[in-house]
Amino acid sequence: MAQQNDQFKALVAHCKEYGFIYQSSEIYDGLSAVYDYGPYGSLLKNNLKEYWWKAMVQMHDNIVGIDAAIFMHPKTWKASGHVDAFNDPLVDNKDSKKRYRADVLIEDHIDKLEAKINKEVEKASKRFADFDEQMFRQTNTRVVEYQEKMDAIARRLGAAMTKGDMVELKAIIDDLEIADPDTGSRDWTEVRQFNLMFSTQLGNIAGEEGKLYLRPETAQGIFVNFLNVQKTTRQKIPFGIAQIGKAFRNEIVARQFIFRMREFEQMEMQFFIQPGTQQKWYEYWKAARLAWHQKTGTPAAKLRFHDHDNLAHYADAAVDIQFEFPFGFKELEGIHSRTDFDLSSHQELSGKKLTYFDPATNESYVPYVLETSVGCDRMFLAMMSNALVTEQVPGSDDPNNTREVLKLHPALAPIKAAILPLKRTEDRIVAKAKELFDKLKISSQCQYDDTGSIGKLYRRQDAIGTPFCITVDFDTLEDNTVTVRDRDTLTQERVPLENVPALVRDRTDMSLLLG
Ligand code: GAP
Repeated sequence: MAQQNDQFKALVAHCKEYGFIYQSSEIYDGLSAVYDYGPYGSLLKNNLKEYWWKAMVQMHDNIVGIDAAIFMHPKTWKASGHVDAFNDPLVDNKDSKKRYRADVLIEDHIDKLEAKINKEVEKASKRFADFDEQMFRQTNTRVVEYQEKMDAIARRLGAAMTKGDMVELKAIIDDLEIADPDTGSRDWTEVRQFNLMFSTQLGNIAGEEGKLYLRPETAQGIFVNFLNVQKTTRQKIPFGIAQIGKAFRNEIVARQFIFRMREFEQMEMQFFIQPGTQQKWYEYWKAARLAWHQKTGTPAAKLRFHDHDNLAHYADAAVDIQFEFPFGFKELEGIHSRTDFDLSSHQELSGKKLTYFDPATNESYVPYVLETSVGCDRMFLAMMSNALVTEQVPGSDDPNNTREVLKLHPALAPIKAAILPLKRTEDRIVAKAKELFDKLKISSQCQYDDTGSIGKLYRRQDAIGTPFCITVDFDTLEDNTVTVRDRDTLTQERVPLENVPALVRDRTDMSLLLG
């Protein structure tokens, strides 16, 4: 656990030091759970969005994209259920005056039990040479006991959340003797519901009438446009609508860096289907989305499915794709079978028909919806935590000779290639390097850097994940070739100048992730 904390702290520090992420309004001591993306962060985030957009919209002739407004008619949120049901259970500690999410306190308790199990497993794996982890988990009395406790608490929590039973949540906290993580106090208030939507006011209408919400999910912009899109694109069911955009939630627990933010970005796709086919499409999108994550190079062991213990008000089935963040397995993406809940509710409240005439079956119906929803910021955090490693320099015998390197997939890397003159005081080398940069920048995001020794420049490019460093040296002046250094293997190849743009493009192109 301590090692994981250190790893996470190092990651947060790296994000700031190398211009990936800054705390919002830092000069005013920051705004909690709100972050700004710096120069390399915004490039990486754009690449993640491009990967998602192309995988959804470009690769499927039955998925189209939209860009709906953040503000929507206030009735939208009544119909969607967010006004009445988009709540988190909140509890205050009377001594520390700190506010927590009751379900998160209980989940943290479950995580502690899981950590105890993992410790037992780790200890035993070191003791026995032919260690059978599955068998150990099933037979070791202490592990079985912890697991049973975890399962029982999870069941109780799930039932309380599904029923919205605040009294039961308080009872669980009391029964488990959960204390304020900061002060150890167990003096809690009752648990009560807290709506997560931010609201604001239209300038020209006073009072409740003019109250607007900042959207808590992008999905509703898709639902209200369902027929507009279907008619204007002549799509036939099954078809999908994809969207990337900001969402806002007044999160009570603001922690774990960009994992839980108050302003964040979602990449959502609503897939409109014939009622009764939801199970088939649920399985299809589960597999498709897992494959999308694995393509980035994320090891299979770091991704897992986790069925929802308590379903949101709109879903008849839901699963998370969880990623193993430095603080444990947590939700990265949700896949939800939303039935016809949203379209039916909008139809009812707006009085406008949202049915589809299916030429294949000659009937009209309100389509069912299969949703995939991944947080762009969580994806960013997953990519960074997966990629950032400290390793012994490849080829070196000295274990103390280490480097920090960000092993991002080349198609996602913020900078594809860095052009580095071997000697910055040699005008002819600098001129050649700048000439190469001017050619390369037309096809690839690249960077010219002559601000230090070549060793220091390599280290910096490793730390921001640049897959290729291109060194212009004295030989270049003679034979018009350059050295191309590979970030991961540190192998160097000599390449004619005219071949460099195609080489960089081919080895970093987004199509590498799509094929
Ligand atoms: N439209 C369905 C929906 O919004 P969700 O599970 O509440 O479902 C989907 O959110 C995804 O959005 C999550 O899997 C997560 O990646 C991201 N997300 C949700 N709340 C977030 C927050 N406060 N900060 C960052 N990302 C968040």
